[in-house]
Amino acid sequence: SENEKTSPEDLLFSYDGILYPAALSSPETLEALKSFETRSNDVILAGYPKTGTNWLEEMVREIESTDAKYTEEEMKERINAEKELQMFPRLEFGDPGVFERMKKLPSRRIILTHLSPHLLPPSLFQGKAKILLLLRNPKDTAVSYYHFYNNMPVLPSFATWDEYFAAFMSGKLAWGSYFDHLMEWNRYIDHERMMMISYEELKENPVLGMKKIAAFFGFSLSEEEFSRIAKKTSFQAMKEKSKETHGKFGDILFRKGVVGSWRDLFSEAQNEEMDQKFEECIGGTILAMKIKY
Ligand code: A3P
Repeated sequence: SENEKTSPEDLLFSYDGILYPAALSSPETLEALKSFETRSNDVILAGYPKTGTNWLEEMVREIESTDAKYTEEEMKERINAEKELQMFPRLEFGDPGVFERMKKLPSRRIILTHLSPHLLPPSLFQGKAKILLLLRNPKDTAVSYYHFYNNMPVLPSFATWDEYFAAFMSGKLAWGSYFDHLMEWNRYIDHERMMMISYEELKENPVLGMKKIAAFFGFSLSEEEFSRIAKKTSFQAMKEKSKETHGKFGDILFRKGVVGSWRDLFSEAQNEEMDQKFEECIGGTILAMKIKY
């Protein structure tokens, strides 16, 4: 039937010990990525899947284009150039030739990735491009990813939450372990061209969050412009537009958009297990202090 999924082995491939969706990427693409050339004015947005990357992307696109004051014509050209590349732009998606085509994108390029630093091109850390890392508390991230896994045709389904939880804890999911991802990024956090922001702080005060982002990238916007963007990128507004922006994936991508929905699924034992793992992996780091839940 239409809902039947291919076997997990066919849906995911392993590269350097980490799983990725075969429909979206390939070992050859990840290999080719190593020679991707970063521009000094690239805007790099990094975050594990389901940390709110589509939301952050939208905010940053709005902030960047408002700052740049593109004409309508320029805006159209930019959107078309990107659409030609792919529907969900992620640095690790596409065929190996995608990086050659990305060279034609006009500056400033806004580039998203779910990858951990060791898989990113060295030029990204050597150059002047700025990297914004998005964090989200691991419990909500796990719940969000669970629903995503079970609803996306390109990912295998899990029969039960418990089974999924074990896979999340051991990192046997696409893009690997969230804990490894956090531990790895934690080593780059002092990098002068890096900043982190959390899903929770963006929820609590989107305008303040956007001001921090704009200051980091050197974009200057008025108070009115920030509040216009906050309205335009609210969960409700983005969900309403999602059919148009993300087609049939709209309802899957814009699910609940709240902090704390982990309580619906976590058992007390799972809650403790995750607290312990979190403490072991990143307890006491600056990064951990950002992730309040
Ligand atoms: P939930 O599944 O908890 O609702 P990503 O974009 O990285 O895949 O992350 C998806 C998560 O971000 C989903 O979380 C989604 O609902 C949430 N999200 C998307 N747009 C949002 C917005 N404008 N405001 C708040 N949360 C948003």
